[in-house]
Amino acid sequence: MESALTARDRVGVQDFVLLENHTSEAAFIENLRKRFKENLIYTYIGSVLVSVNPYKDLEIYTKNHMERYRGVNFYEVSPHVYAVSDNSYRSMRTERKDQCILISGESGAGKTEASKKILQYYAVTCPASDQVETVKDRLLQSNPVLEAFGNAKTLRNDNSSRFGKYMDIQFDFKGAPVGGHILNYLLEKSRVVHQNHGERNFHIFYQLIEGGEEDLLRRLGLERNPQQYQYLVKGNCPKVSSINDRSDWKVVRKALSVIGFSEDEVEELLNIIASVLHLGNIQYGGEDSGNAYITTDTQIKYLARLLGVDGLVLKEALTHKTIIAKGEELKSPLNLEQASSARDALSKAVYGRTFTWLVNKINVSLAYKFFISAVLTVPFIGLLDIYGFEVFQHNSFEQFCINYCNEKLQQLFIELTLKSEQDEYEAEGITWEPVQYFNNKIICDLVEEKFKGIISILDEECLRPGDASDITFLEKLENTVGGHAHLTTHKLADGKTRKVMGREEFRLLHYAGEVNYNVNGFLDKNNDLLFRNLKEVMCMSDNKILTQCFDRAELKDSKRPETAATQFKTSLAKLMEILMSKEPSYVRCIKPNDAKQAGRFDDVLIRHQVKYLGLMENLRVRRAGFAYRRHYETFLQRYKSLCPETWPSWQGKLADGVSTLVKHLGYKPEEYKLGRSKIFIRFPKTLFATEDALETRKHSLASKLQSSWKGYSQKTKYRKLRSSAVVVQAWWRGILACRRAQRKRQAANTIRRFIKGFIYRHNERCPENEYFLDYVRYSFLMKLRRNLPKSVLDKSWPTAPTALIEASEQLRKLYMQNMVWGYCKRINPEWKHQLEQKMVASEIFKNKKDNYPQSVPKLFMGTRLNGEEINPKVLQSLGSETMKYAVPVTKYDRKGYKARPRQLLLTSNCAVIVEEAKLKQRIDYAALKGISVSSLSDGVFVLHVPTEDKKQKGDVVLQSDHIIETLTKVAICADKVNSININQGSITFTMGQGKEGIIDFTSGSELLVAKAKNGHLSVTAPRLNSR
Ligand SMILES: Nc1ncnc2c1ncn2[C@@H]1O[C@H](COP(=O)(O)OP(=O)(O)OP(=O)(O)O)[C@@H](O)[C@H]1O
Ligand SMILES: [Mg+2]
Repeated sequence: MESALTARDRVGVQDFVLLENHTSEAAFIENLRKRFKENLIYTYIGSVLVSVNPYKDLEIYTKNHMERYRGVNFYEVSPHVYAVSDNSYRSMRTERKDQCILISGESGAGKTEASKKILQYYAVTCPASDQVETVKDRLLQSNPVLEAFGNAKTLRNDNSSRFGKYMDIQFDFKGAPVGGHILNYLLEKSRVVHQNHGERNFHIFYQLIEGGEEDLLRRLGLERNPQQYQYLVKGNCPKVSSINDRSDWKVVRKALSVIGFSEDEVEELLNIIASVLHLGNIQYGGEDSGNAYITTDTQIKYLARLLGVDGLVLKEALTHKTIIAKGEELKSPLNLEQASSARDALSKAVYGRTFTWLVNKINVSLAYKFFISAVLTVPFIGLLDIYGFEVFQHNSFEQFCINYCNEKLQQLFIELTLKSEQDEYEAEGITWEPVQYFNNKIICDLVEEKFKGIISILDEECLRPGDASDITFLEKLENTVGGHAHLTTHKLADGKTRKVMGREEFRLLHYAGEVNYNVNGFLDKNNDLLFRNLKEVMCMSDNKILTQCFDRAELKDSKRPETAATQFKTSLAKLMEILMSKEPSYVRCIKPNDAKQAGRFDDVLIRHQVKYLGLMENLRVRRAGFAYRRHYETFLQRYKSLCPETWPSWQGKLADGVSTLVKHLGYKPEEYKLGRSKIFIRFPKTLFATEDALETRKHSLASKLQSSWKGYSQKTKYRKLRSSAVVVQAWWRGILACRRAQRKRQAANTIRRFIKGFIYRHNERCPENEYFLDYVRYSFLMKLRRNLPKSVLDKSWPTAPTALIEASEQLRKLYMQNMVWGYCKRINPEWKHQLEQKMVASEIFKNKKDNYPQSVPKLFMGTRLNGEEINPKVLQSLGSETMKYAVPVTKYDRKGYKARPRQLLLTSNCAVIVEEAKLKQRIDYAALKGISVSSLSDGVFVLHVPTEDKKQKGDVVLQSDHIIETLTKVAICADKVNSININQGSITFTMGQGKEGIIDFTSGSELLVAKAKNGHLSVTAPRLNSR
C-alpha cells in the first residue's frame, strides 16, 4: 500500500485516502488516470475497490495471481478484485460472519466481469471435494445461462445485464462452496418487444436461431434468419462482431445440462422462446368497425402447438379483452393498437415469468442439499451485480427504479461505512469525531414513503378509476410533493431550470445529481397489465414451465396484483435487509470511455461517474478522521529500521515500540493517535515522509545486509570447506596408516616365511618352504637372466641353488648350444676352413706337443710361399697338380745331418721337396707311411717313406718354423691325420739301404740341431714357459 516517492509520481497512490488533496476531484481523477495509463485498473478508497474497465485482457487473472492474493493481508499486495474476494472469504471464515460484495457502476463499467472474477476466484482457491466440484461447476455455469436470457447488446455494452442480480454463495465449515441462491431484480422486459436502434433483444433468441440444430428449428417452426422476426429487427442489428451466437449456443446448452435441466425441460423452455418470436410475428388487420383481427394464421398454428393451447381460444384472446363488471364477464373486441399492445404484453409477461422460473430452477440446482437446521447454518458470501446510476437524455420508469435502487444502496453504504468507522474508533478507544455527510434518506423517503412517496402516488394513480394518465400522475406529484427540496417539475421550476426540462418531466435531485424523468409510460409500466383472458389461455397451457409461471390461483384472486414499482420497492427492502445483515465490501466500477476502447481515458465521462458513484463523498467520509491506520505489529515491522531502539527488533510491548518509533520520527501529537491495537495517522504527508525515509534507509540497509550476508555466506562456505578438508585428511591419513600397517604385516610375513623356508630349504616342498624355494628359484633365474655368458668362449655361469642344479646344467647346455649354433650360423667359409684345420691340429697335437698351445692363437696361412718365391720350373714340372701349400723348411742330410734350406710343396697328390729349381724328392701321399715328430717345442719332423721304394732315398728329416701348421697341412692333404706319431725322447728313421738314423730330442734353453757324438741327430728344443 505504502509506496515510495518515485513510484507515487508515476503510478499515483494505491489508496485514495493517501491523496494529499482529498477533496479535489481533479486530484482524484488525475490519480485514476496515472494508474490507468500504467494498466493499474484497481485503486482503493480504504476498503472500497475502485475498478476502471481496461477493455483489454491484462493477464492479471491467472491462477498465479489468484495464489498471490490467497490468504494475504489486504494491504500487503497491490489492489485487486481478488484481494477483496480473499478478504471477504477470510473474514467469513475467521469471524463466521456473512459477507457481501456490492458491485456497482454504470452499464459497461465491468460489474458482471468483476462478479465472474470473484466467482472464479472462489471456484479455484477454495478447498474442494467431489460434491463441491459439481456445485462449483453449477455456480460457474449459471452465468452463461442467466446471461443468455438476461443480457443483451446495448449501445453501452455488448453484453449488458438487463436485470439486477444478487447471488449468495454458501460455504461449509471447511470453507468449500456448497451451494448458492440467486435473487433477480427488475428484468428489462420491454426489450422483448422493442429495441432501440443499434441494440438487440436478449441473446437467447439469436443463439437459438444461429446455433439451433436444423431439426430443432424445424420442430419450433423457426427459420435460420433473425430478419424474419419482428421482435429481432427493431434495433436493426441482428449480428454483432464481438458476439458469436453459434458458439455461445453450445456453451448455453452445455451449461443447462450441467445445472441439471432435463431434455424435456430444455425443449419446453425453447418452445416458449420460439413462441415469443412467433407472437412477435402475429399481424393484425383492421375491420371497418376498427376491431382488430389476426391475419397470420400460421403463427397461431405454431403457437397453439408450442404453448400447448387451443389455437382458436388464443386467437380470440389476442383480439378481445374480458372485463368483469359487477360480477359479470364482458368481452369486448380490441382495436388495432390495443390488440398489438395485448400481444406485446403477453410476450413480455411470458418471457419475464419464464426468466423468473429459470432463476428459481437454477436455485433448486444450487441449493445446499444438507441444510438441516438453523444450528447448522452455513456462512454466505453475497455478490450484488446491480445497475449503477443511470442518466440518459430521456429517462423513464426504468431509470427511476434503478436510481431509486442506487439511492438505497448509497444510504446503506453511508450507514455501514460510517458505522464501521465509528465501530473501529470505539474499539480502538479513540474519541469519535462526527463526520459531516449528506444523508440521502430524505430522497429515499421522497420516493418510497407510504401515501406521500412518489411510488405511492404512482400506484394510487394506477388504481384510480376514471381516466388516470401519466399527466394526471405528474399533476398529482406537483400537488402532493411539489414543495419537496429534491423534486421539481416544469411547472414548479424556476426559469433557468424550466429551459432544460420538458413539460412531461419531473426532476429529482439525487445524492449523485439531478435527473429528469419523463412520465410517459409510467402508468402502463407500473401496471404491467396483462388482460385476464390472455392469462387464462396461458393457465390452460400444456407447457409445464408455463403452468408454473401462470398459476390459476392468480385468476381467482380478485385483488389487484402489486404494481411493478411496489414489487420493486418490496424486493429492494428485502435486499437491504439481506445486505444489512452482512459485512459489506464494495467494488465501484468505472467505464473509461463510451467507445469500448482500450487505453482511452475520457475525463468528462469519468468525472460524471465519480460523481454518480459518490466516490468523493466516500473518500471524504473515510478521510474525515484519519487517513491511515495500521495494526501496531504491521507498522512496527515495516518502519522499525528507522529508529535505533526498535531496530533490529523491539522486545517490549508493541504499542510502546510504535510510540518510541513515532517519537523518534518526530510525529507531532496532532498528527497521530495510538489506539488499542492500531496507530492512526491523520495526514498522508506524515506517512509519506516516513515512507520516503524508509526508501532512503533501505539502500543503506540493503548494502549492510548484503555485506553481512556475503560475510556470513563466505564464512559458512569456508567452515564447510574446512570441515570437509579435515574429514578428507582424516580419512586419507587413516588410509595411509592402513596401507602402512598392511605393508608391515606383509613384510613381516614375508620375512617369517623366508626364514622358515630357509630352515626347511632342504626338505621336500611343503607349505613352510615353498615360498622360499620359489623365491630362490625365481631369484636364480632372474640373476641368470642378467648374467648370461656373452660369448661361446665365456664359461662363466651363476652357481645354481641345490634344487636347480640339474635345471641349471640343462639350461647351460641349451644356452651354449644355442650360442654355438648362433655362432656357427654367423661364421664365413674361410674361417670355417681355418677352424677345421685348427680342429685337426688340435686332434693331433693337443696335449701332445709342447709348442702346440703357442700355435693356437696364430692363424694358419693358406701358404707360406707365394708364386714368385717358387721357381717357375718347379711349378712347370708339377704340371696340372694344384699347389695346396708351400713352406720353407730345413732339410737335414741323412748323412752328416747337414742343414740345407729347402721348400716343401704340398699338392693334391704328393709332397715335394724343392731346392731352387730342382725337384729334390717327391713323396706321393700314398707312399707316405707316416710322420714323426717330437713332443717338445722343436720344429723337426720326419716323413717316413717305404724302404722298399727304390725311388726314395729314405725318410726325410725336415725342420719347419711352423711345425704345427705344416704338419696339419700335410695330414689334411695326405689324409694322414692318424699317421702322425708324436714321440718322446727320440725318433728312428730309415736312411736308405736299410740303415737307420736316430734323432734325440732334449729340452734346452734354445733350439739347437746338430750331429751328436753318438752319430745321432741331437735336437735341443727350447723350454717353453707354459710347460
Ligand atoms: N476486468 C476487465 N478486464 C478486461 N475487460 C473487461 C473487464 N471488465 C469489463 N471488461 C470488458 O467490458 C465489457 C463490459 O463489462 P460488463 O459486462 O461486466 O459490464 P457491466 O458493468 O456488467 O455492464 P451492464 O450494466 O451493462 O451489465 C466486458 O464485456 C468486457 O469486454
Ligand atoms: Mg453486467
